[in-house]
Amino acid sequence: MLRAAGVQATRLDREAYPKLPASPPVALIVDVRGQSQLPAALSAFRKEHPAASVILVTSTLDPRLMLDAMRAGVNECVQEPLTPEMLNQAIRKVVSGSHPPPTGQVFAFVGAKGGVGTTTLSVNTATMLARASKADVLLIDLHVGHGDAALLLGVEPRFSVIDALENVHRVDESFFGSVVEKTKAGIDLLGSSDRMIAGGIDPQRVRTLLDFAATQYRYTVLDVPRSDVTLLDALEVTSTVVVVTSQELPSLRSAGRLAHMLRARYGAARVMAVMNRFDRRSEIGHADVERVIGDSVKHLIPSDYRMALQALNVGRPVALEKGALADSFRSLAGDLGGIVKQKPPSSSSVFGRLAFKRA
Ligand SMILES: Nc1ncnc2c1ncn2[C@@H]1O[C@H](COP(=O)(O)OP(=O)(O)O)[C@@H](O)[C@H]1O
Ligand SMILES: [Mg+2]
Repeated sequence: MLRAAGVQATRLDREAYPKLPASPPVALIVDVRGQSQLPAALSAFRKEHPAASVILVTSTLDPRLMLDAMRAGVNECVQEPLTPEMLNQAIRKVVSGSHPPPTGQVFAFVGAKGGVGTTTLSVNTATMLARASKADVLLIDLHVGHGDAALLLGVEPRFSVIDALENVHRVDESFFGSVVEKTKAGIDLLGSSDRMIAGGIDPQRVRTLLDFAATQYRYTVLDVPRSDVTLLDALEVTSTVVVVTSQELPSLRSAGRLAHMLRARYGAARVMAVMNRFDRRSEIGHADVERVIGDSVKHLIPSDYRMALQALNVGRPVALEKGALADSFRSLAGDLGGIVKQKPPSSSSVFGRLAFKRA
C-alpha cells in the first residue's frame, strides 16, 4: 500500500532495528495490528530521530494503547480497515505539515470522443485563466505517449508528467519547479511523455500530484484521456470536470453517458458539459444537446477552423488573440474560475472588465 501511494519505504524488523537507511527517515509507521503494546524500541527511535513523525496502524482504538501512543509521541493513528488513501492521507498530514493546505482549484477536461477539442479547450482555458487572473496556472497533460498540449503551447518540455509521477514521493516546491515547463502563454506545463509507464498511470500517484499542484497553483487544468477509466476515478480534488462534446451524434451520445457517470461519481454540481465547434444551423439544436446531456449546456464554443489551425501552426493559443473564439474561452474560464464581469471602467480594454470574486 505504501508503495502504491508512491512512498519510498524501508521495512524494519524489530530485530533489525536500529539499522536504518543512511538518509534519516521522515516518518516511522508502526504496525501494531493484533497487538496490545507498542514496540519497546519506539522510544529509542524517537530519541534518535526527533524530527521524524510516527504513524500508528492499529486494529482498534484501544484506550490504553492510545494513551501509550500519546505518551510515546505518536503523531497520527490509522485504524483498520486500511486503504492506500488513508495511509497516504496520514503520511501527507505528518510529512507535509509545513506545506500550505490546498487552496487552488483544479479543472479536468474530458472529451466525449477523440478530436472533439479537449486539448484545445484545456490549453485555452488555462491560458485565459492566467490572462484574466494574473495568478499561477498549471496545465497537466495526462496523456501517456501522445499528448498535444505542448504542441499547442509551442514548447518542447524536457520533463514530463511521468517524471513527476515517478518521483511523486519527493514532490516539493523546488522539484516541481524543475519539472514544469514555462510557456509563452503565461502558464506552466507538465507535458505528456513519449515514454510509457510500466503498468499504466497509477491513480494514487495522480491524486498525490494533484493535491500538491493545488498548493502551488491557483488553477490547475487537466487534459484527461478519456480512455483511462482509472484516471476518471482519481479526480476527487477537482472542482469541476468539464465534458467536451461536439454536436455530432456519436460524440453527443458518448458525452451523455460520460456526464451521467461523472455526475454519479462526483455530484451534478461538479460536472459541466461544454459544446465545441457549435453550429447554429446544425440539425441537432441546443435543446437536443441539453436533453441528451441531461443538464444545461451554457458554453457553446464557435467553430473557427482558420484560427484554430493558425494557433496550432505557430504554437500560440487562440486565447491570446481577439475574436469570438477567444471571447468564448474567456467566458468559460471566467465561469470556472469564479471570475465575474464588472462594470466597464473608462478604459476600453476588455480585460479591464474582469475581476475576481475572491481576493
Ligand atoms: N472551436 C474550434 N474550431 C475549429 N477547429 C477546432 C476547434 N476546436 C478544436 N479544433 C481543431 O480540432 C482538432 C482536434 O482538436 P484537439 O483539441 O486536438 O481535440 P482532442 O484533444 O479532443 O483530440 C484540432 O485540429 C483543432 O485545431
Ligand atoms: Mg487531445
